[in-house]
Amino acid sequence: EEIEKGGFDHFMLKEIFEQPRSIKDTFRGRLSADLNDIHLGGLYSVLPRLVEAKRIILIGCGTSWHAALLGEYLIEELARIPVEVEYASEFRYRNPVIYPDDVVIAISQSGETADTLAAIKLAKSRGAMVLGICNVVGSSIPRETHAGVYTHAGPEIGVASTKAFTAQVTVLTMIAILLGKHRKTVTNELATTLINELGSIPAKIERILESNSKIEAIARLFKDSTNFLYLGRGYFFPVALEGALKLKEISYIHAEGYPAAEMKHGPIALIDDKMPVVVIAAKDSSYDKVVSNIQEVKARKGIVIAIVSEGDTTIKGMADYTIEIPEVHETMEGLLAVVPLQLLSYHIALMRGCNVDQPRNLAKSVTVE
Ligand code: G6P
Repeated sequence: EEIEKGGFDHFMLKEIFEQPRSIKDTFRGRLSADLNDIHLGGLYSVLPRLVEAKRIILIGCGTSWHAALLGEYLIEELARIPVEVEYASEFRYRNPVIYPDDVVIAISQSGETADTLAAIKLAKSRGAMVLGICNVVGSSIPRETHAGVYTHAGPEIGVASTKAFTAQVTVLTMIAILLGKHRKTVTNELATTLINELGSIPAKIERILESNSKIEAIARLFKDSTNFLYLGRGYFFPVALEGALKLKEISYIHAEGYPAAEMKHGPIALIDDKMPVVVIAAKDSSYDKVVSNIQEVKARKGIVIAIVSEGDTTIKGMADYTIEIPEVHETMEGLLAVVPLQLLSYHIALMRGCNVDQPRNLAKSVTVE
């Protein structure tokens, strides 16, 4: 097992550090040589129906559901197809409206999650085309779906998903660009920009990983906190949910992710001088709004840990702690912003003496409902 951990103390840390590689493996061979198109062989036979879909329904559980939420933002933005995101467990039991021209995309690391599998069978029985985004080759979900795309993240051992999540988001980004190209909502020029940006992600994650010891030092200050709030807008909202989930799963600290603007409808009542608030505040179209949210937290003496763009000085002057991430096209910022949050959870859990790779009560693959 020590050999499998490749010199890292835990599988989770190894898998966090593998992300530059696993993302590259996921897009390798799928970006055209002239960098203005995407090739996803697994979707080739179903592409006409996918491009004409009236609606796409993304389903998943846990971290895969968070990837789906980012997928909604990506596909709606780039391909202009309406997207709905569903928890597989809710979808399968609530008699959902499914039309034959809907396309359902199931997202699952293991390919074995019972609720996701049951949701796929339901969608198929109602005549929808069902695709899969899975990591484990030959698992049940790829066998049950009409077509799909594998994430090439490699085996993920840590129960809390890290590299599978970023690989799923990488695939969803490629699907959004591919659909956008075919639907002419993404110009050749934009496609080239996006594909170049996608190519830059691994090196940018390497840069974020260099902040590991800084993040460890921040973790030390908050290891005894009992609650955490995570806030983000736009692409950073699903990242806030995922950051909170990572902390809950492995450190057993209560954490909630919220759209930053919803803070005033509830969570703001919780803020006092003991409440760490992680705000994902990198530069994007909602930047100014997030700055105001940080001011609201500070006015109530909350402690702000902000994820900011490299070189940001405005938020540095307001937040208690900042962690920098490189700038990238807005649609891909989630892929970067999640990485420091994974590291923060890892260090906090470790300092609390928790079993980071096998947290209590959780399973890597939930094959019962
Ligand atoms: C479990 C795992 C999570 C995972 C979820 C969905 O809860 O602990 O890490 O996100 O199942 O699993 P899947 O294999 O379908 O992505």
